[in-house]
Amino acid sequence: MKKILLTGVSGLLGSNLAFCWREHCEILGIYNQHAWALDGIKTKQTDLSDPSAVRVLLKDFHPDVIVHAAAAVDVDKCEQDPDWALRGNVTATKNLAEAAAKDSKFVYISTDLVYDGVKGNYTETDPVNPVNVYAKTKLAGEQETSRLTNVLIARTNIFGFNVQDKICFAERVIKEAKARTIKGFTDSFFSSLYTCDMASLLSVAIEKDLRGIYHFGSSTALSRYDFADTLAQKLGYGKSLINASSIKDFPFKARRAPDLSLQTRKLSDATGIKVPTEEETIEHFVKDYKNGINGELK
Ligand SMILES: NC(=O)c1ccc[n+]([C@@H]2O[C@H](COP(=O)([O-])OP(=O)(O)OC[C@H]3O[C@@H](n4cnc5c(N)ncnc54)[C@H](OP(=O)(O)O)[C@@H]3O)[C@@H](O)[C@H]2O)c1
Repeated sequence: MKKILLTGVSGLLGSNLAFCWREHCEILGIYNQHAWALDGIKTKQTDLSDPSAVRVLLKDFHPDVIVHAAAAVDVDKCEQDPDWALRGNVTATKNLAEAAAKDSKFVYISTDLVYDGVKGNYTETDPVNPVNVYAKTKLAGEQETSRLTNVLIARTNIFGFNVQDKICFAERVIKEAKARTIKGFTDSFFSSLYTCDMASLLSVAIEKDLRGIYHFGSSTALSRYDFADTLAQKLGYGKSLINASSIKDFPFKARRAPDLSLQTRKLSDATGIKVPTEEETIEHFVKDYKNGINGELK
C-alpha cells in the first residue's frame, strides 16, 4: 500500500482524490485553514508556507509519493494580493521540494492556465505564456520542483464536488440551471476533467512512474456554454436553460485565456488508458452525483 502525502485535502481536488484513493493507499491529507476529515485517511493541519513546519511534516511521515494539490487558486484574489499567491503557489512548493528527499516521487498539480489561450489545442511542448498572477505563480511552482529528480507535472483543469463552502462551475449548473441564471461563454474553451477520472489517471501515472509534464484534461474540448448545456441535458434539463454569453462581456479582475483546449495523447500513450472525452467525463460526474457521492464527501 503506497504512503501518500496529499496536500490540499480540504480543497476540491485533494478531497476528491482522497475519497477515490482511500481504500488503496495510506493517505496523510494536509489542510491549512479548513479542517476536514474522511473515514479511512488521516488528516493534519500544516501551513505549507512555513518551511520549518514542512520539514517536521516530512520528517515524521515518510511518503512514497507527495501529491501536491494545495494552492492559492482564487484567480481574482491572486491578482489583488500577489503576496498571497506567491506564498500559496511558490513558497509552499519550494518548501515541500526542499524538505523532500531528492529522489522522492513528487506530483505537482499545475494548470492549463500556464498557456495564454490564444492558439488552443496545446501539447506539452508548446510555449507557456501565463497571463495573470495566479498562472505566473503556478508556473513558478512548476519550476520550484526542478531540484527533484522524479517529478510528474500534471497540467489540468478540473470539476468535481467541493467539500468547502464554494462551488465549481459544474456544481453551479446543478444548483442554478433550473433558475436559468447560468451564463455560459460560447467563446471560451477548455478540456476539463472530472476529479474522479483524474484520480484514476493519476494513480496509473504514479504506478507507471511517469515523469515530466503531462496534460490531465479531457481528450476533447467544449466551450463553457456547451459544457453547461451538455451537463444540464445529462441531468435531464432542457437546452434553453443556459444563457449564451461572451467572455469579453464579463469584468474579471484577472485576465483570462480564451482557448485552453489540451491534447492528451501523451498521457493516453504512456498510461495505455483512453482518456475520457468531455462528454464522457461529464457523464461520470452526473452518475456519481446521482449516486450521492457529493453527500458522502461533505
Ligand atoms: N479548480 C480548478 O478549476 C483548477 C483548474 C486547474 C488547476 N487547478 C489546480 O488544482 C489544484 C487543486 O485545486 P482546487 O480547486 O482543489 O483548490 P481549492 O479547492 O481552492 O483548495 C486549495 C487547497 O489548498 C490548501 N492550501 C492553500 N494554501 C495552503 C497553505 N499555505 N498551506 C496548506 N494548505 C494550503 C487549502 O487548504 P485550506 O482550505 O484548509 O486552507 C485547500 O485544501 C491546485 O494546484 C490548482 O492550481 C485547479
